[in-house]
Amino acid sequence: MDRPLLIFSGQSNRPLAQAIAEALGLPLGKSTTLRFANDNLFVRYEESLREGDVFIVQSFVPPVQDHLMELLMMVDAAKGASAARVTAVIPYFSYARSDKKDAPRISITARLIADLLQTAGADRVLTMTLHSPQVHGFFKIPVDHLSAEPVIANYFATRVDLENAVVVAPDAGDLKRASALARRLGLPLAFIDKERVSDTEVRVRMLVGEVEGKTALIVDDEISTAGSLVEAVEALMQAGAKEVYAAATHGVYVGPALDRIAKSPVKEVAATDTCPPKEGPKLRTLTVAPLFAEAIWRIHRGESVSSLFT
Ligand code: R5P
Repeated sequence: MDRPLLIFSGQSNRPLAQAIAEALGLPLGKSTTLRFANDNLFVRYEESLREGDVFIVQSFVPPVQDHLMELLMMVDAAKGASAARVTAVIPYFSYARSDKKDAPRISITARLIADLLQTAGADRVLTMTLHSPQVHGFFKIPVDHLSAEPVIANYFATRVDLENAVVVAPDAGDLKRASALARRLGLPLAFIDKERVSDTEVRVRMLVGEVEGKTALIVDDEISTAGSLVEAVEALMQAGAKEVYAAATHGVYVGPALDRIAKSPVKEVAATDTCPPKEGPKLRTLTVAPLFAEAIWRIHRGESVSSLFT
């Protein structure tokens, strides 16, 4: 028997879930989330999930803890409603930044969330550009880890004159991703050595590579407070870059981010719709809905997902 493919959305990013469902030619499934007077959440599916191949789309954007809890409850409720298989689709997995014990007496929260999702009953996870790719290994269930690289490469290739451009990794963690993008675009690579001073402040220690007179293309996994971004732009401009563009998979844009970008000499900042898009004269949104739709279709059909990227 062919299991029906069912797509549901939590409350974090319904426009993306809707776009994924549309790309698959399916209606978005109906569900309700309520908050009781005592702050407890309540979720209920408004249609049958029996023997369905269920995909629940939820990004960990603020309020992160509410969205995490809602996803756990939706997974649990789907299993309880006799879904045949439940895939947690987490376009933005914010806690991938809590991936190691780099200070005493702290929680490796990415691993804790992996455990919670499995306890809730998730059979698979589908996600994109984990800040720390090793987080994949915290799960004992299959994880498909998508990359926004083709979408970001296409943005730079169509938006910027690549004749005299250089790809820039704004910190060590982004070096591998930036190097892959530079190879794809046939461009040289530069690298910034950054030090995090606090949650919202960073300091550039060193810029390695030739950027003078060039168009610099910063590529990052996420833009949160935009501290990393504006400091990188500043360092590049001081080193003589002609202009700076930036692209990130996850445009979280919290706290001072939008103000910092508005005041920065950066020409344009692009991010995908893994997080709900924000408005701003320099901001652009790239959609990853077709990529997620294709991955979901392949998972449903039991086809290779990695070959999407080869
Ligand atoms: C950090 O290591 C990441 O790659 C991003 O650069 C960082 O998470 C962005 O955070 P913020 O925008 O707050 O500097």
